[in-house]
Amino acid sequence: MTQQRAHAMLPRATHDELARQAFVQSLKVHLASEVSPGNKRVYEQSVKPQIEAALQRAPRDRHDVRPLMKRQPYYQMWSSLQRTSQEMMWDSVSSSVDRQIDTLIDAARQQPASLGSLTLDPAMPIPSYHQAVDIHCQPGGYHTELCRDDVAAGAIYDRAVHVYAMGRMGDLNDDLGASAVAWLKRNRPDFKPRRILDMGCSVGHSTLPYVDAYPDAEVHAIDVGAPMLRYAHARAESLGKRVHFSQQNAEQTNFESGSFDLVVSHILLHETSGRAIPRIMKEIHRLLSPGGTMLHAEVPQYEGMDPYDAFMLDWDTYNNNEPFWGAVHDMDLVKLSTDAGFAADQVFQVMTPSAIEEAQSRTQLLQGGDFAGAGVWFLYGALKAPAAAA
Ligand SMILES: C[S@@+](CC[C@H](N)C(=O)[O-])C[C@H]1O[C@@H](n2cnc3c(N)ncnc32)[C@H](O)[C@@H]1O
Repeated sequence: MTQQRAHAMLPRATHDELARQAFVQSLKVHLASEVSPGNKRVYEQSVKPQIEAALQRAPRDRHDVRPLMKRQPYYQMWSSLQRTSQEMMWDSVSSSVDRQIDTLIDAARQQPASLGSLTLDPAMPIPSYHQAVDIHCQPGGYHTELCRDDVAAGAIYDRAVHVYAMGRMGDLNDDLGASAVAWLKRNRPDFKPRRILDMGCSVGHSTLPYVDAYPDAEVHAIDVGAPMLRYAHARAESLGKRVHFSQQNAEQTNFESGSFDLVVSHILLHETSGRAIPRIMKEIHRLLSPGGTMLHAEVPQYEGMDPYDAFMLDWDTYNNNEPFWGAVHDMDLVKLSTDAGFAADQVFQVMTPSAIEEAQSRTQLLQGGDFAGAGVWFLYGALKAPAAAA
């Protein structure tokens, strides 16, 4: 099992806890590399010919594939194991965090607020899309608090991401942020944002690369989950990074209009809702300064994707408590942006390579719900019109 970089908040694992987590990670690798490819054989040899015979044409999208494929015993076996591995992952990490929760809460309380800041708003309503389901089966989701100053959800998430990603997000789980930053540096080398906002920051995995890349910028990060933010703040302080965390809904924040040059998110949008996304886009347009940049690292769109691959990547919609996953893959991102006030010719959608060196090995490990199976990330964004044209 690859090592996660230590910091003051990272839960420690006993020998047995580590063994359980390592087993789950190995099981996930085994499912992705040894079991999942059998689905493709079932599809090519049996399901695709049946679809072609029934429809008198090749399958066009995942909807053509799903009705027959979901009834295949091999697929059902893989899907069941995949779901079980997900539940085992949360179990293996949660029990370890539960054992040391008092120590972790104390560690968070003891972080001196010498660099950044933490502002919580207990009165902020948690969006219904987080209360309705435990997203990707994380017990209690991102926001549930079971005791005063709870940090459990953050601690569980930090550790579980490392197990889920099979270590390939890097030792600080920061590959998404690092890859987005690398893209910005390559494509906009002269861009020097003065204020940056990361929406849906979770425990700050993707936020910290912006602190390193733009040391003169004031970096803010928001999330709806208080336990995530307490953990994120203490983690950032422990790693010596200055970030201002606040508990806010990305649909409507309390920041001033035009006060950010760069607003980013990383795998946030697919965990919101069809009603929330347009509101988030409008809010970003309001927050951006003239000429400012919006950048989202997300799951790639299904359009143009092989129907079988789209079907497999859509596994989370039905099996992993990600009800909005499929719908967001189908959204018209240009329309979404123009409805929010961006010009169509300022919208971009690109695939960018993973910043982590093992990107190549990731290609061998495409798993259900894996949005970085090919060692690349999908970036979507837009530039706000400069002052004269605004
Ligand atoms: C998958 S996690 C994001 C991971 C993180 N950005 C990263 O790259 O490591 C999604 C996060 O978005 C937060 N979130 C969801 N909806 C939100 C909203 N409307 N406003 C702010 N945060 C939100 C969740 O609480 C959760 O922490």
